[in-house]
Amino acid sequence: IRTLRVGMIGIGTVGSGTFRVLARNRADIAARAGRSIELVIVAARNLERAAGIVGEGVPLTADAMHVATHPDVDVVVEVAGGTGPARDWVLAAIAHGKHVVTANKALLAVHGTEIFAAAREKGVVVAYEGAVAVSIPIIKALREGLAANRIEWVAGIINGTTNFILSKMRDEGLDFAAALAQAQALGYAEADPTFDIEGIDAAHKLTLLAANAFGMPLRFADAQVEGITALQGLDVACAEQLGYRIKLLGVARRQASGVELRVQPALVPADHLMAHVKGSMNAVMVKSDAAGLTMYYGAGAGSEQTASAVIADLVDVARLDGVDASQHVPHLGVHAHATNALSV
Ligand code: HSE
Repeated sequence: IRTLRVGMIGIGTVGSGTFRVLARNRADIAARAGRSIELVIVAARNLERAAGIVGEGVPLTADAMHVATHPDVDVVVEVAGGTGPARDWVLAAIAHGKHVVTANKALLAVHGTEIFAAAREKGVVVAYEGAVAVSIPIIKALREGLAANRIEWVAGIINGTTNFILSKMRDEGLDFAAALAQAQALGYAEADPTFDIEGIDAAHKLTLLAANAFGMPLRFADAQVEGITALQGLDVACAEQLGYRIKLLGVARRQASGVELRVQPALVPADHLMAHVKGSMNAVMVKSDAAGLTMYYGAGAGSEQTASAVIADLVDVARLDGVDASQHVPHLGVHAHATNALSV
């Protein structure tokens, strides 16, 4: 069987991790994929920096569209981020019959309907495990592991940066700005950290979780979103005294009128499992009718942690390439609709 040829757009935190893990675990990954997975071209904004990461072996270009449409590329890994140009690259890749793997939750939450429709039409895969709670295979759990279930709700800590900030404020008494600076230095935060601290990144992820859990359209605009910027050290300390911990939760829940989507700081009882999710870790709980309550835990941000999911998607693509992959693309049928109604 021939090699799966990968073109990568972006070689920042996630791209460089993907390059490293692909190289380090090459033989195991090939064994699991049933074929070898080779990086054949990389697009980067800063070619000099990129050369320092990938060395001599992989051709570099500054032209991302060249990678998206390259005749020798079977799958495009988009890890550049952003929603404007990334949309064009991904749609061009699909139009050229290429599969797409992305960790770009903003792109999919905003343009996913169009992207998934194009992919279904072409019979290619768009995979995005790295877009939600990076190291936790939560998309797979919803789509495959819980496929038999009617899901009632999904709730989680799905932003590593804010969980890191809240943990640092509580455990070390750090102020908000200092904790955010640390999260940025560790590569957890988005390029624009406003997305993290205002709850927008969590809402992007919640949109993708809800689409997979409820078979509903991507309704990012309908989510009620509140971040953690109004919180102070005093709030964190007071919650603690009352026996609670403040966590930024994303919740998607069936209601009579549709699915409620919200992201907001919540008081979690100190003895609850969610209260023990610290630092940049994430956790997602799912309530479903047959499996009951399940919980998933793992790193929510980081270079190789995201790479782990991106490469898992590449392994899936390697297996699905050449067969009818249309079922792999979420079918966003209208089984439910989003509501912004707040209810507790
Ligand atoms: N900025 C994101 C977070 C990265 O902190 O969770 C992973 O999606």
